[in-house]
Amino acid sequence: MSRFDPHSWCDDGQAVVVHLDLDWTVDFIAHTLTGQVSIRLREPAGGTLDLDARDLDIRDVTTTDGATIPWSMAETDPIMGGRLRLDLPDDTSGIVIRYATGANAVALGWLEPQQTAGGEHPFMFTQCQPIHARTLVPCQDTPRHRVTYTAKVTVPAPLKAVMSAAGTGSESDNDGQTTWRFDMPQAIPTYLLALAVGNLTHADLGPRSCVYAEPETVEKAAWEFAEVESMIDSAERIFGPYVWDRFDMLVMPPAFPYGGMENPRLTFLTPTLIAGDRSQVNVVAHELAHSWTGNLVTNATMNDFWLNEGFTVYAERRILEEIYGVEYANLQGVIRRNALQVHLDNFGLDSDLTKLRTDLEGIDPDEVFSLVPYEKGAQFVLLLEDAVGRKAFDTFLLDYIDTFRFQSITTEEFVVFLEEKLPGVLDRINGRHWIFDPGMPGNELPVGSARLDEIRHLATGWLDGARPDPAVASTWSTDEWQLFLQDLPRALPPDDCRWLDETFGLTAKGNYEILVEWLTVAAASAYGPALPRVREVLTDVGRMKYLKPLYGALVGNPQTADLAREIFADVADSYHPLSRGSIAGMIDKIV
Ligand code: BES
Ligand code: ZN
Repeated sequence: MSRFDPHSWCDDGQAVVVHLDLDWTVDFIAHTLTGQVSIRLREPAGGTLDLDARDLDIRDVTTTDGATIPWSMAETDPIMGGRLRLDLPDDTSGIVIRYATGANAVALGWLEPQQTAGGEHPFMFTQCQPIHARTLVPCQDTPRHRVTYTAKVTVPAPLKAVMSAAGTGSESDNDGQTTWRFDMPQAIPTYLLALAVGNLTHADLGPRSCVYAEPETVEKAAWEFAEVESMIDSAERIFGPYVWDRFDMLVMPPAFPYGGMENPRLTFLTPTLIAGDRSQVNVVAHELAHSWTGNLVTNATMNDFWLNEGFTVYAERRILEEIYGVEYANLQGVIRRNALQVHLDNFGLDSDLTKLRTDLEGIDPDEVFSLVPYEKGAQFVLLLEDAVGRKAFDTFLLDYIDTFRFQSITTEEFVVFLEEKLPGVLDRINGRHWIFDPGMPGNELPVGSARLDEIRHLATGWLDGARPDPAVASTWSTDEWQLFLQDLPRALPPDDCRWLDETFGLTAKGNYEILVEWLTVAAASAYGPALPRVREVLTDVGRMKYLKPLYGALVGNPQTADLAREIFADVADSYHPLSRGSIAGMIDKIV
């Protein structure tokens, strides 16, 4: 037996699954998917096949010809879930598993009508990354393998189903059910399987992109994301042809736990990006960039997650640089470098979790999610670029993507490739230290500008009396505000909070990046007048990027810890299981 992915029961010595044919009926009352999966193997095989399966109700397992396949749920693990062990008859090429998902399936988010923009219809969506596809379908849930898929999804009318696949039509029956069909011809790791069902319509944005959203949101979304085609063009110039045919986007209800998820052909986006000023489109650039770094060249396991996210953050900034210029891209870099520092400080600079190449055996990847693979990863890629020059690095990138397209690689495989293509550069930048050791090596590239430094000084000099000139600060961009608020000391005295709030109307801001950054300062300062707004945000929005710092600030202050507990008790039921799980951990730590 040889398992190569610490988060999957998949065994290297066994048959390989290459195609899934899914047939699901979505039950909004029981909160389950019921149906079957037909699995095709790469080559006919017999004997043991281990699949990942979590919280699944397995009903029966046969070959495609109907012969019974003995099975057992052989082992379960608190992080990996169950190991579904099949005993295949000789020469099995297809397997049919009839099953239903469990009520606690982590991949599934079920929303009540009042949690949607329209307020009339329920909504459901999946989130499979990193290791939750196994709660949706029994599979080899490791990014080391890829599958193509076809699907048939039956939902109550008038709801529409969309997937990370091409839609191939729909039929309605007389019982008020509609069946939607899909085909995903490009092979993907299972974490990119995705389904959403809701009252959805769409608006076209360009020849190969549209945005899906509820009718109440679609127009605003179309305006906010209108630049997507020019982003695809930029990305193609840098990384090579876009191979996924379409780049559509789906605006989720606010309970979506992430900013974006790069489901191929259909990126999922939080509605908090719709700020009315296109200030949050970096998330679109990011998810788009995954079409090359992540979806085409994929991390072999979560130990190599930085290959996905570090390269994608680098790529995201390249796209932003092309469209908005280098200042804009740099400012984003500085803001996220600041946010990285908070995560580094939380882990401690000697923590293994600050390595790029991690060893997450026995560790739940969701629990240790941080900006390390993102921003430390991007800093490392930037150093590579800086060491060889942009022109040579661009050649390397094209080569990297072309060499490993539709493959999954380990960090070690990446290092071998890098050494072959750009010999000596790794040593020149102290690269092994960057990849395999904790902390931040001393040779980070500095980023900054006079304007940036000015804003930072206003914030860091706060306690010495520095104050922004209201006339100037009212012209700041979202990013500039964010930077200023990030750099403010906390806690601030109540009078200072009041001055900031009254002068700049921060509690009333509709832009979530500014609002949450401010509310984090206000909550850490136990500034009473902002607390009702904190509660509102924690009730309305499920994006973990906002929940974690806000709950963190409340929990960290004895004056507001009880409030955190109270709010959570009130709204936890409406959170996605992932958000609920991660915040429950914080609440449990209150003494
Ligand atoms: N793939 C991630 C989201 C993710 C990571 C989901 C790990 C589950 C486990 C996605 O591409 C992402 O990074 N989203 C970011 C946006 C970004 C601009 C950094 C987010 O959600 O904030
Ligand atoms: Zn990402």
